[in-house]
Amino acid sequence: MCGIVGVVGSKNTRDILMQGLEKLEYRGYDSAGIYVTDPTQDGKLIKSVGRIADLREKIGIDVAGTAGIGHTRWATHGKPSEKNAHPHTSSDARFVLVHNGVIENYLEIKNDYLANDSFNGETDTEIAVHLIAALVKNEGLSAFDAFQKALTIIKGSYAFALMDRTEPDVIYVAKNKSPLLIGLGDGYNMVCSDAMAMIRETSEFMEIHDKELVVLTKDLVEIHDAAGQSVSRDSYTAELDLSDIGKGTYPFYMLKEIDEQPTVMRKLSQVYADATGNVTVDSEITKSLIAADRLYIIAAGTSYNAGYASKFLLEELTEKPVELGIASEWGYNMPRLSEKPFFIFLSQSGETADSRQVLVKANELGIPSLTVTNVPGSTLSREANFTMLLHAGPEIAVASTKAYTAQIAALAFLAKAVGSEIKNGKAAKFDVVHELSIVAQSIEATLSEKALIESKVAGLLETTRNAFYIGRGQDYYVAMEASLKLKEISYIQCEGFAAGELKHGTIALIEENTPVLALISNNAKVSAHTRGNISEVVARGANVITIVEQDAAILGDDIIINNVHPYLSSISMVIPTQLIAYYASLHRGLDVDKPRNLAKSVTVE
Ligand code: F6R
Repeated sequence: MCGIVGVVGSKNTRDILMQGLEKLEYRGYDSAGIYVTDPTQDGKLIKSVGRIADLREKIGIDVAGTAGIGHTRWATHGKPSEKNAHPHTSSDARFVLVHNGVIENYLEIKNDYLANDSFNGETDTEIAVHLIAALVKNEGLSAFDAFQKALTIIKGSYAFALMDRTEPDVIYVAKNKSPLLIGLGDGYNMVCSDAMAMIRETSEFMEIHDKELVVLTKDLVEIHDAAGQSVSRDSYTAELDLSDIGKGTYPFYMLKEIDEQPTVMRKLSQVYADATGNVTVDSEITKSLIAADRLYIIAAGTSYNAGYASKFLLEELTEKPVELGIASEWGYNMPRLSEKPFFIFLSQSGETADSRQVLVKANELGIPSLTVTNVPGSTLSREANFTMLLHAGPEIAVASTKAYTAQIAALAFLAKAVGSEIKNGKAAKFDVVHELSIVAQSIEATLSEKALIESKVAGLLETTRNAFYIGRGQDYYVAMEASLKLKEISYIQCEGFAAGELKHGTIALIEENTPVLALISNNAKVSAHTRGNISEVVARGANVITIVEQDAAILGDDIIINNVHPYLSSISMVIPTQLIAYYASLHRGLDVDKPRNLAKSVTVE
């Protein structure tokens, strides 16, 4: 959701900015721009609509300054255009600013401070940079003081990197709610939205906390808190590898990430169990969870679907009711809670603004919380009481795959740990390490059938405008995720439906050749009913593809999935649906990794 990168003190500024933006492109890709200082002139500001590759084409070789800032945009205010692309400048062109977030009171600021200014575009960011210049001009403030004062006026979320053309060797940086961190180089320093954007240059990073203002020069990082007091902070080494963020020989990150899932399952067993198979989840987490009378899983999108997929397992082993909350709803419409709630935040990025809003409320109410995330040090991880990491490696494709399956697996370890602690009989029988190794094998078997899966769906999904996934129980939750995946990367309108619910209205949409993808895992209690629902749609002309777990399969089923423990079937059953979405997108000639209108980390509410 917009990516920011900045560097001061490096001869390679242009390359660092461009490589950084390429790595940040998953955060938004409707337009991009860079500003680079220039020893002889005023610096170069270059912007372009479209992808980073379009910007690269526009940038000449004579852009050779030693400091600069860059931005890749996901539009919030104003359509994608060169005028609205960042960096933005003040009217006198002295200040140059990039921003990620939403300035909620930008219209008030415009009225109160900038009534006589004219603007190039429609963004809230342009108001912010004009405000800084106005405070310098009207109140005689230094750039630092004007920026600091502007931060007290601005309401909303922001990660800012500001340059003053009169001080080309300084970058001013600030953040509130939007992610931003400092990267420490050898003789130069950097700022970025995500460590991945800088990992080519350094593995040494420093956090910035909300409401702090940082002055960055090539050899200094000065942090000031909201009261202006200077803050000292240790740096940390990020455990990221360059190979983690490359595509290798894959055509798309999504396919690479789908293929990584067996490894992720095994990795989680190494992290959350010891050599003898005993689960090693932090006892402080299990203690806090056991003290609760109800668990609430808060998440968005795919992570929300992973929450549903884990509900049954958590309820069975922890003996607690589990309720799901859509983060964007609960931030402002929190339902009546139980007496002793425990909140679990599921978030690949750990930065989703909607989830964070709920966490802020939970903290105000003193509700204990656990964040299950893929990103160590992320905002949700820092602000919750506890964290469990997904260890899935960077997920770069916008469509989430390995984070979904890792979330279910991580929660399986949590459920097992709590269940063992409270001596739950089902937990005693559930050997999570062994069962996940079977899941990993089942995933591998499905991955070896890519050609079959592609052939089953290629023709069917190439041109259709709509489709349905149906399933019951756990399969219904997989259907929700499968339909989200298909929608977001193939643009096919797809609904995930509880199979038995179709006949209560939605079956009216089934017509000749409507694709219906039916999920049937080994649950004898409901599989016959789902078969009945399949017959109902076939009778109305639907083109059905069945995805069936081995023991429930009958002659003529299309895609067969190896058996796994029923608690974990959402993991193995989702794999073919990820591949179906991938091939549908591919056959439609779309950009699988960067679907239109989307961004990976959604840091606005
Ligand atoms: C879909 C997808 C999104 C995210 C959602 C929450 O493929 O990736 O639906 O799941 O935006 O993001 P996180 O998990 O980072 O909180």
